[in-house]
Amino acid sequence: MTRLADRLGLALPLLQAGMGAVAGAELCAAVSRAGAGGTLALYKEPPARAARLVREVAAATGRPFGVNVIPEVTGPAACLDQLRAVLPELPRGAFVTSFGLPDADAARAVRAAGHPLVIQVGTVMEADTALGQGAAVLVLQGTEAGGHLLGRLPVHHLLAGVRARHPHAVLAVAGGIATGGDLADAIARGADGAMAGTLFIPVAESTAHPIFKQRVTEAVADDTLVTSLFRIGWPHRPHRVLGNRLTIAGQRAPTTFIATTRVDGREYPIPRYSAAAPGNGTTGRIEEMAMYCGRSCTRVTGRHPAAVTVARLSQEYESARGLRTTSPGPANGIPARTSGSASRPQSQER
Ligand SMILES: Cc1cc2nc3c(=O)[nH]c(=O)nc-3n(C[C@H](O)[C@H](O)[C@H](O)COP(=O)(O)O)c2cc1C
Repeated sequence: MTRLADRLGLALPLLQAGMGAVAGAELCAAVSRAGAGGTLALYKEPPARAARLVREVAAATGRPFGVNVIPEVTGPAACLDQLRAVLPELPRGAFVTSFGLPDADAARAVRAAGHPLVIQVGTVMEADTALGQGAAVLVLQGTEAGGHLLGRLPVHHLLAGVRARHPHAVLAVAGGIATGGDLADAIARGADGAMAGTLFIPVAESTAHPIFKQRVTEAVADDTLVTSLFRIGWPHRPHRVLGNRLTIAGQRAPTTFIATTRVDGREYPIPRYSAAAPGNGTTGRIEEMAMYCGRSCTRVTGRHPAAVTVARLSQEYESARGLRTTSPGPANGIPARTSGSASRPQSQER
């Protein structure tokens, strides 16, 4: 269908983002069974639990799925520990996604185990480095995206820059994707597919807290903002969240514990301004927590099972492609890849 779908063995060229507190084994397996790239968030999971979650997913789907690491959160040593625990559990065809550049040992471990390495980047320079590290797929994250932001460019600018330098790379965009029309538009602009996170927050199998799900379905793009407030546990990275009492308050509130999250029967206290998002095991002041959300939320409405969401996207994508075939022409003034974006001169992208 596209190089992304071919490379990762997907029916639809769409990856579900690994999302801490949201994308557990159930969501990953459900998206995978539906034919898209379901992905398990490993976030700060200890290696033994990470391996157990991977076994759960592998038992629940026969189609490809991914696991997601965040080297800048865990640090390189703990990231390698997570990978050493999960790689032996991954079935053939499973892929590994990394938020930001992994270090050389992590990249080598994934490649040596024979799994495609998918690296999410936010700049043209990082894209060059990620390809040098042997990435099979690059995810190009634009500033429209929910969650932590890797760069400062809107997604289509980043895509144009990277595509001009790397005409043959397999590129997915992240940020602004919530419908099959969005996906078709990204592909017409030179992408091979997309990654979506916000779209999957409210689906039935997501482990996001019910209040978080509700707020995402009700929100429009301008209810989100980029801030650096929720930095405890993940500093130095601006993030797009839904606005709340803290983001509009002129004064800083005290960094006291405002919630607890239960994981495997243990309670973890969560301070105000923590980077942790509210999951279904969280109790406390949910409204004050970081609810990561992309500008695509305007087009995210239902709380359906993942299979329904993926099927709807697939149908919309097919009909948008059909429309494009019957009325060819540039999408918003940017020519489709086949009509020359790949051959744009290298000087344009920086
Ligand atoms: C609630 C939420 C949590 C996220 N957590 C992660 C994560 O754990 N790992 C990761 O690689 N990316 C994470 N992201 C960012 C995604 O990889 C991706 O860049 C983003 O979801 C794309 O934009 P969209 O949400 O508008 O679709 C998260 C995004 C959201 C919305």
